Amino acid sequence: MAIKIYAFGGGQMVEAMLRAALKKGIIKAETTGVTDISADRVNYLTDTYHFQASQQPDWTAITAADLVILGVRPQDDWQQIMKELVNHDYAKDVLSIIAGVTVKQLASQADRFAITRIIPNTLTDVAMGYSGVVKNDRANQTVIEEFLNSFGKVDYIDESLLDVFTGYGVAGPNYIYNFLISFTNAGVLAGMPRQQANKLALENLRAAAAFVEQSGKHPAELLDINNSAGGVGITAQHELDKSSFSAGIENAVLAAVNRTKELGKQNKGD
Ligand SMILES: NC(=O)c1ccc[n+]([C@@H]2O[C@H](COP(=O)([O-])OP(=O)(O)OC[C@H]3O[C@@H](n4cnc5c(N)ncnc54)[C@H](OP(=O)(O)O)[C@@H]3O)[C@@H](O)[C@H]2O)c1
Repeated sequence: MAIKIYAFGGGQMVEAMLRAALKKGIIKAETTGVTDISADRVNYLTDTYHFQASQQPDWTAITAADLVILGVRPQDDWQQIMKELVNHDYAKDVLSIIAGVTVKQLASQADRFAITRIIPNTLTDVAMGYSGVVKNDRANQTVIEEFLNSFGKVDYIDESLLDVFTGYGVAGPNYIYNFLISFTNAGVLAGMPRQQANKLALENLRAAAAFVEQSGKHPAELLDINNSAGGVGITAQHELDKSSFSAGIENAVLAAVNRTKELGKQNKGD
């Protein structure tokens, strides 16, 4: 049976999650409500997906929902939304995607609530990638997982790791896109037509990931096999080792994690 969902905030991330769940048949447009203070978003979500969208919350739909999503930003008035949920006797699960707002802060508004906080994976349209998930004891794991699995995979983590999860895991595709661009450009620089370089880069990426996964071997072991004495592979390896390749990625991840922490401090609970 379809999960009845109601979302506060119909922005980019909520749209991406609901679009994937709708495609998988986990939710139905007629039992998916969204409230957004922007009339443009309300019209867009109604016209595009036929969701039950409105600028004012529909409390009949909210109290009938299995899951309420808090999809606003940290600086928005999420506390008021929680208070209204309490006032209207909402009794099921709350799923927050608000960056930087902890389960404890959410629960401080309503300690009887079933609360799950996630950092959603952004590869929702291909339903791949992990969402980082923290939940309290009351959360309905079956409903939460059914919804989250419609747009990716679930990784239960300690809340202290959520900022790292965001800057490393959820921002992860960005690092891969950058690698793909650099690798393709390298092929073009060496004289290969761009389309062909792009095709080879993508296939190598896919195949190398599959090989690491299927062989169970550490990538260093696979490099040892490929890098024979005085050969092509070890010559390239030498240049990579001399470059800032590893440090560049490491520094980018650390900067992304720090930025996540900074943004989290903007939340209304502090
Ligand atoms: N986008 C991502 O890839 C991503 C990934 C992981 C986590 N997140 C997190 O998810 C949260 C939402 O991000 P987003 O990118 O989806 O932001 P967004 O597109 O700006 O969506 C937030 C929406 O909520 C509306 N809103 C604000 N206060 C409201 C209220 N009280 N009631 C109803 N609607 C309200 C906003 O309207 P106005 O614009 O008119 O104010 C906006 O349309 C953030 O905490 C973000 O950090 C996002």
